[in-house]
Amino acid sequence: MKDNYLNTQSSLSMKGSGYYSAKTAGAKNAIDKTQKVIENALKTIESKEILKFADFGSADGGTSQEMWFNIIKLIRERGDERQIEILYTDLASNDFSTLFKTMQGMHENSKFAFQKIFSNVYVHGCGTGFHKQLMANNSLSLGFSATAMHYVSERPCLIENHVHMTGANESEKQLFKDQANKDWETILINRSKEMVNGGRFICINFGIDEKGRYLGNTGGHVMFNNFAKNWKHLEDQGLITHQEFINATFTQHYRTLEEFKKPFENKDSVVSKSGLVLKSCETMLTDCPYKMKYLENKDTMSSEEYARNLIPTMRSWSETVFKNALIDRNQNEINEIVDKFYDLYIEEVSNNPDGHAMDYVHVIMDIEKII
Ligand SMILES: C[S@@+](CC[C@H](N)C(=O)[O-])C[C@H]1O[C@@H](n2cnc3c(N)ncnc32)[C@H](O)[C@@H]1O
Repeated sequence: MKDNYLNTQSSLSMKGSGYYSAKTAGAKNAIDKTQKVIENALKTIESKEILKFADFGSADGGTSQEMWFNIIKLIRERGDERQIEILYTDLASNDFSTLFKTMQGMHENSKFAFQKIFSNVYVHGCGTGFHKQLMANNSLSLGFSATAMHYVSERPCLIENHVHMTGANESEKQLFKDQANKDWETILINRSKEMVNGGRFICINFGIDEKGRYLGNTGGHVMFNNFAKNWKHLEDQGLITHQEFINATFTQHYRTLEEFKKPFENKDSVVSKSGLVLKSCETMLTDCPYKMKYLENKDTMSSEEYARNLIPTMRSWSETVFKNALIDRNQNEINEIVDKFYDLYIEEVSNNPDGHAMDYVHVIMDIEKII
């Protein structure tokens, strides 16, 4: 087993230079669908001189930019001219440079560059992980996080025969679950410290829904099983070692609804005592936009074209896990192996696209601090 399996922060980052946002239309769709929840939350947030917002695990900021633009526009249209501070948080390895350029309208979607379009809007960045407290006590009016808190703070083990906890054995699964439970409590306690009384934390997290569905597993092929199968194929071909197979372990846990709700259910839990109340908790399925496009254009779009659209969206967030699994290899070798890995998936989907997609399954939570 690789001895530094706990040190996994570097294996988390999304592909940089705007690739993440450009290739993850589904993540943006999921965020846009939650705008109403955020609008409703805003109505009851107590009046404060400054409105402080935060986007936890924002990546390059592109996927949530339109949502924040709409929210700020709504605030200004209501005649509310309060100063707005928005803190984008992610890991230190995140491509903050792209984020800041995007916010200043230096990239394609300049029409949503709210920092330039509206006055008194101040954009900041924070490169410390969301398991820690990131802002001063009682300062945050509205926290938001999308598709980020399934990342656990450390990998509790490497998975021997799969790449993801959804395919791990029972004892490995339990270790991930214990880590995720601990992390969820830490995340909530730190958000509670940051939030003002009456503040809200809206988060949409990857998870497992009532029907047992999760990202890339909504009825057809199971994406993570395909990752594991293709990575194993490279081992069988002698292209990677057995240790490199094992090293590719996602630092993620998909919580169930029960796991998400648990800290709120006991009035004596540290989370309840900190003032946090779960106002609503629902699951949401977002169709894979690449699948939808293919289904709508089957007459003109080849299955290969579909595969070449679909696999990059998977690659945008998974690539670093496979790259970092490789030991003592030069960059060219790493790139060749990882290209080959994703090419296997492209080939499979090109040959028969039926049942291949990356539908999103989220758990949406609206959390309020009441003390
Ligand atoms: C799949 S992306 C989601 C980005 C964006 N929120 C969206 O919905 O499109 C997950 C993001 O969470 C970030 N992340 C993972 N662990 C984190 C942590 N402990 N603290 C802050 N960000 C983290 C990753 O670096 C990545 O940018």
